[in-house]
Amino acid sequence: MKSYRIVVLPGDGIGPEIVDAALAVLDKIQELAGDFRLSYDFRQAGAAYYLEHGETISEETIEAIRKSDATFKGPVGLPGVRRPDGTEAGVLGGILRIGFDLYANIRPIRLFPKVATPLRDKVPESIDYVIVRENTEGLYASRGRGLVMEQAATDTLLLTRKGCERICRFAFDLALRKAKGAPEDNRRRVTLVEKSNVLRSFYFFREIFAQIAKQYPAVEAENLYVDAAAAALVMKPEHFQVIVTENMFGDILSDLGGATIGGLGMCPSSNVGDERAYFEPIHGSAPDLIGKNRANPLSQILAAGMMLDYLGRKKDAALLDQAIWRALEKDLFRISSGQVEGGAKGVAAALKGELERCYQDRK
Ligand code: IPM
Ligand code: MN
Repeated sequence: MKSYRIVVLPGDGIGPEIVDAALAVLDKIQELAGDFRLSYDFRQAGAAYYLEHGETISEETIEAIRKSDATFKGPVGLPGVRRPDGTEAGVLGGILRIGFDLYANIRPIRLFPKVATPLRDKVPESIDYVIVRENTEGLYASRGRGLVMEQAATDTLLLTRKGCERICRFAFDLALRKAKGAPEDNRRRVTLVEKSNVLRSFYFFREIFAQIAKQYPAVEAENLYVDAAAAALVMKPEHFQVIVTENMFGDILSDLGGATIGGLGMCPSSNVGDERAYFEPIHGSAPDLIGKNRANPLSQILAAGMMLDYLGRKKDAALLDQAIWRALEKDLFRISSGQVEGGAKGVAAALKGELERCYQDRK
């Protein structure tokens, strides 16, 4: 029996609620698959932890992550919990992404059946792309280092050759690995989103992208300015297969993409480096939804699927995906205005039933 060590960080706000739902689904998958086990190491980190301990995460937890096979993280942070410099104290991105050099932030944007989208006439198959957000540099490299004076403040955008090269390669490899091309024409296509009409740093990124693209003749490569990209994600999302971009642009565009597929509650992500990875929703801890039994856990459950895939449990990941797809198709639960009737528990219960049917059909 193969066993994997998973550090679980339930997080703040709705975190524990949606992580619970995702773990219930993962437990069901282990029972049905029968040939692997996840052993969970639960740890506290985030805004509530900071209030109590004066730090966002402990050294022991960092060490546990270092020794684990993967980390499963809920949303963290609370808007009121800030450091003396005004930035949010509960967030872990800087610590884990930079600390473990998890340079690729993978954010699938995919429209599921019966999920209401504000884009008229879009069917599920027409929105299915992945944003590859560079996760360790860009404007956020300035995190905690900005210069604030009495009458002015500045943060610096940093792009390195190594950083641009590895993220571009990651994007092209992903374009080849993905089951399908862009919905528009089924072509494999990587779009670099940048702003080289204004900033020299982005022209540097663009030239590196062009060099890497030459090594992938089977993939179409194109550039798009970030402002035009924002419009295109609304006007013709079917055009995209893989988007690669700078840290802050990826942060913003992934929320925009999320809004087109039923809200951020539909958006999982992985933070991947050469040796380690963690999996989380792209959204925050939504404190306004605590205790209302309306939180959509699919972001966290889809993140669990990405984790299974990363651990090499490709079939189980695919069956989970199928169960989610079918459950939505059958209206077992309904996502509207970014929330779900029946709450996270209801979704987990419905998915457990659907998973039984999917594993059964597979035989
Ligand atoms: C995200 C989040 C984080 C980020 C915040 C909470 C620091 O918005 O993962 O997209 O900006 O990276
Ligand atoms: Mn964000």
